[in-house]
Amino acid sequence: MTEYTPMKNLPAAPGYKKGDLFVLFGELFGRGYANGIVDEARRAGMTVVGATVGRRDNGGELRPLTAEELAEAEANLGGKIINVPLEAGFDLEPGADGLSPVERLKGIKPDDWASVRFGEGVLEESRQRGAQRFMAQLEKFVSELTPLAPVGGSILFAHTMAGGIPRTRLFMPLLNRIFKGTGAKFLPSEPFWNSELGRFCRLNFNEVTGDTFGRLIEQTATMRAGVEAGGGTVRYVAYGYHGCGVLLGDEYVWQSYTPYVQGEAKMRLEDIAVAATRNGIIAAVYNCPEIQTNSSALFLGVELSLYPFLAALEREGGGPVAEQARRDCAALLKEGETLERMLAEAEEYLCAPLMVEYRDFAGWPQHNGKEQMAFMLERSQELMAMSADQKRVVCAELSRLVFQGVGRLMFDDSWAPQGPVLWLNHDIIARRLVA
Ligand SMILES: NC(=O)c1ccc[n+]([C@@H]2O[C@H](COP(=O)([O-])OP(=O)(O)OC[C@H]3O[C@@H](n4cnc5c(N)ncnc54)[C@H](O)[C@@H]3O)[C@@H](O)[C@H]2O)c1
Repeated sequence: MTEYTPMKNLPAAPGYKKGDLFVLFGELFGRGYANGIVDEARRAGMTVVGATVGRRDNGGELRPLTAEELAEAEANLGGKIINVPLEAGFDLEPGADGLSPVERLKGIKPDDWASVRFGEGVLEESRQRGAQRFMAQLEKFVSELTPLAPVGGSILFAHTMAGGIPRTRLFMPLLNRIFKGTGAKFLPSEPFWNSELGRFCRLNFNEVTGDTFGRLIEQTATMRAGVEAGGGTVRYVAYGYHGCGVLLGDEYVWQSYTPYVQGEAKMRLEDIAVAATRNGIIAAVYNCPEIQTNSSALFLGVELSLYPFLAALEREGGGPVAEQARRDCAALLKEGETLERMLAEAEEYLCAPLMVEYRDFAGWPQHNGKEQMAFMLERSQELMAMSADQKRVVCAELSRLVFQGVGRLMFDDSWAPQGPVLWLNHDIIARRLVA
């Protein structure tokens, strides 16, 4: 079982310098976690290089970015993007008979989800082919990257890849019921997760969210050896999730979003960092707080544990950053609402007896329950409604602060990680920001 290892000490400033190489392994989206670490790399004068997952037009062949898409992505990143499609997973990967797993699901109605069966070995065949495709693409990516390695300098890889929901219409209504359904629409995550469709999701999540990190470390072994032979160093960091410690009353308490079915893939990521560290490779996974990003948009209620971050900023020293955060958040509230009421409601929710049952670290990731989902979704809506403009909500502002703090902690700590798996709880992030 994973040991709970929160980061306790602010890491020292790292030794990265101008000309060192920062590689973002995944795409950069406007409000994504990676923005924080990319800003740090730029500030340190590192050369920033990015990746792309590629594109599929109407679910067709995987292709690189067009010249226009590439120019836009490079402008957004502020660096060169190696235009080799690095999409992971096998949902669209044809088997020997030419059919992909999602094509095999054509015509199936959402109500029949429990009786779906793939033929013997069919998922495994596509999984292996998808993995081979990813490895072959990664080899091309690494061969384009190798000449950019600074002689005697440092390379920092930041892995941000996560996902793998099979891209077929059948899944959206089912996942909407699992993550957003109440009353008659509620679908418990446990039977779904134990079904054949759940197994398909699990295998695909493992490929995208977990195994891409191991494959990156493996496929860069030769490059790493070359860099090290020249006196340089290669380091790897990845974004994990395994619940988060937030300020409730007087203490930082571990809690989690439920049902985080991708949790098994995230634990795989942790295992990869532990194994790499044992082999003398500098690699660490940083388990980060729940924030609002493109990827977390499906998980309504994931943001509820973000509100107490404002209280953590005060508790860890306050000062100009905390005051500015309060002013910025207060300015987003509807007339008549207050931050005090918002924080009190969030805390009341997070400490409710029903939610305390969902704080089982050893049993993580837990499955959802009907009452828990109804409670979470209702509170999520109530707290969101306290912001005046639903396009500019308080938790978006808090998300930005958190990804900045996380980016700085990961960047600094990557130089000499305090451990292979570290939780970045609200306390250490707040301390970093107010310092
Ligand atoms: N949002 C949160 O609450 C939260 C909490 C803790 C950790 N994280 C982690 O942070 C990281 C970045 O996520 P984010 O929330 O900022 O969202 P994001 O949408 O900005 O990033 C998701 C990343 O996954 C990549 N990706 C998606 N599908 C892929 C596929 N099939 N193959 C390869 N790459 C694929 C995207 O290119 C992108 O880089 C992820 O590892 C995520 O699990 C997020």
